[in-house]
Amino acid sequence: MTDAQAKERLKVLSQEIRAADAQYYQDDNPVLTDAEYDALRKELNALEAAYPHLVESNSPSRSTGLKPSGRFGKVTHSVPMLSLDNTFADADVKDFVARVKRFLNLPDETGLAFTAEPKIDGLSASIRYQKGVLISGATRGDGRVGEDVTANLKTLDDVPKQLSGSGWPDILEVRGEVYLSHRDFAAMNAAQDKIGKDTYKNPRNAAAGSLRQIDPAVTAERPVKFFAYAWGEISGPVGKTQMEAVDNLAGWGFATSLEMKLHHNADAMIAHYHDIEAKRADLGYDIDGVVYKVNDLALQERLGFISRAPRWATAHKFPAEKAITTLNDIEIQVGRTGALTPVAKLAPITVGGVTVSNATLHNEDEIARLGVKPGDRVEIQRAGDVIPQILRVVEDGGGKPFTYPAQCPICGAEALNDVDEKTGHVDVVRRCSNGLKCPAQATEGLKHFVSRRAFDIDGMGAKQIEVFYARGLVREPADIFTLEHRNTHIGLEGWEGWGETSAANLWAAINARRAVDFDRFLYALGIRHIGQGNSNLLARHYLSWDDFHKSITAIKDAASPEWAELVSIDGVGPGAARAVKEFFHHPENAQAVMNLLDHVTLIDAEAPSDQGPVVGRTVVFTGRLVHFSRDEAKAKAQSLGAKVSSSISAKTDYLVAGSGAGSKLKKAAESGIRVLTEDEWLELIGAFSTPALDIKNPQ
Ligand code: IVH
Repeated sequence: MTDAQAKERLKVLSQEIRAADAQYYQDDNPVLTDAEYDALRKELNALEAAYPHLVESNSPSRSTGLKPSGRFGKVTHSVPMLSLDNTFADADVKDFVARVKRFLNLPDETGLAFTAEPKIDGLSASIRYQKGVLISGATRGDGRVGEDVTANLKTLDDVPKQLSGSGWPDILEVRGEVYLSHRDFAAMNAAQDKIGKDTYKNPRNAAAGSLRQIDPAVTAERPVKFFAYAWGEISGPVGKTQMEAVDNLAGWGFATSLEMKLHHNADAMIAHYHDIEAKRADLGYDIDGVVYKVNDLALQERLGFISRAPRWATAHKFPAEKAITTLNDIEIQVGRTGALTPVAKLAPITVGGVTVSNATLHNEDEIARLGVKPGDRVEIQRAGDVIPQILRVVEDGGGKPFTYPAQCPICGAEALNDVDEKTGHVDVVRRCSNGLKCPAQATEGLKHFVSRRAFDIDGMGAKQIEVFYARGLVREPADIFTLEHRNTHIGLEGWEGWGETSAANLWAAINARRAVDFDRFLYALGIRHIGQGNSNLLARHYLSWDDFHKSITAIKDAASPEWAELVSIDGVGPGAARAVKEFFHHPENAQAVMNLLDHVTLIDAEAPSDQGPVVGRTVVFTGRLVHFSRDEAKAKAQSLGAKVSSSISAKTDYLVAGSGAGSKLKKAAESGIRVLTEDEWLELIGAFSTPALDIKNPQ
């Protein structure tokens, strides 16, 4: 090829690539297949390598030509992205297998197939295809709502823009892990360092940082990988088994795990885990354990979910990594519930690729148990995202023992140990007795209130709360919603670090939260023991704030029917129930909630489905069931919108009585509650016509 011919060909290739980029990234309308596009890029690169003097400064090989997407929009996952339960000991794997069989009512000796595959330490993403074409992609976010990172995901080599092969359902959401290999991570950090930018702490952070770039061109330059292991919404089947589904994903163009294997008993699963553990250092990417999944997808369906994790899977985590360092000091922090927590200040040390300078010491007893004093050399361990812990003292530093304060170090109020009303047992945790008057409790509560899983107010994080609180501008959640109105006096845009735009953005972010889901609201209040799971259970039980509030405030004592109702909610333990009652009966909290409700409208929770024979009905199971385990029967009833209670009350609609039913059956009969046999119940919920509930033994 002459220089002139090469020049002409390079020009044509550049134009075609730029046009394809524009159609793809800006118009969301790809005209070339991935293979055609790759062929153009390859030819361009080869020609440029052969004729380096002809390379244009604006050649597509030098820039990807992608336009920034701006801030990320939010995407509500049509099927929530869940997490996994963790297992640490080999024996727990046996428990997991036994639990699955028990739930499915299978005899212990049944061989049941499970897949086992590495758990990659990255961040999960969900990618949606319509008729085989990638249409959107999102991060996990809080599992319900993620960020729209479509343009960024499209730049990943492992993410097909058009599925290959055939047989995919029209709607297919592929889920998997975005990650970086060790080698790419090291190279990327070296490059960052060279241009004077901050380096990333570990491959996971680097992958997250790379995926969440405002400019997709930056993501495109990063060697980010994706491996597929699950799916979200699908309009048709992706296979009969996990194995088959993952094989299909591979056929449709995804990278999948080469290490995935099928096993029929816990011993084989555990052996595979140890195999992978031995290979861990040579895999070339971070993994933090092995994931086991029930292979049969119909059984997965029957097993369903509990709270935020599937019953049909578990993650068998590798043991934590350890290191030895010096304990410089012990600092006392005060949390949102007033708990005084000792924090170990360590001489910084790298553990498993992360620099650690703090560790938790839990409480007073833990310090005594470890016999640890400032100045000692200590062994610490770090597991995943968990706060590092001190395991033992390795060498006595000869320092003075630590004296635990009897006062709150922040407000000076007395710090007291809780006493369990029933047992008289004194809790090890000391709590500041000053409630919301303690600045630490108030600010920690406010930080929780604005956090991502609670009110999720963009631009109002821990730092801002500290400042607003210190200036006396935000003392309780309601104050956040009056800030804009008070801004004529505050003049936020003139504060250091703020301007017209950021202030306007903050008002917009606050105003966007004037209507909020009931469960989020409950969670945001920061009631002890009421995390996301319990908030959800409460919201789904009471459905509306009014019903909830009326019922909780009507509780007088343990004999109140409203108390019986609260403690009968499946999954809400007695500690959580007590905390809810105490919170709303405390005048200061009650006032803060009322103040807040002047500014915020609550969106009622939805009954899990709005039709069906048992929606909103309260069911009690008793006696021995034949077709299902008690747990599966309960879970099925809940998934159909029924409330499951463990005791008979005026609210009970049905008692499902298996063989050997005793006092509950008697009580139900006396109170005129409808009693059903197991078969009548199955008839009622239409179980005999649903294949997913086919009761035949698997395999
Ligand atoms: S399955 C319904 N398989 O681990 C649950 N997850 O701790 C679907 N992860 O959020 C998850 N490797 O980000 C699954 N082979 C694997 C995985 C994996 C990594 C991550 C994923 C998930 C988290 C749960």
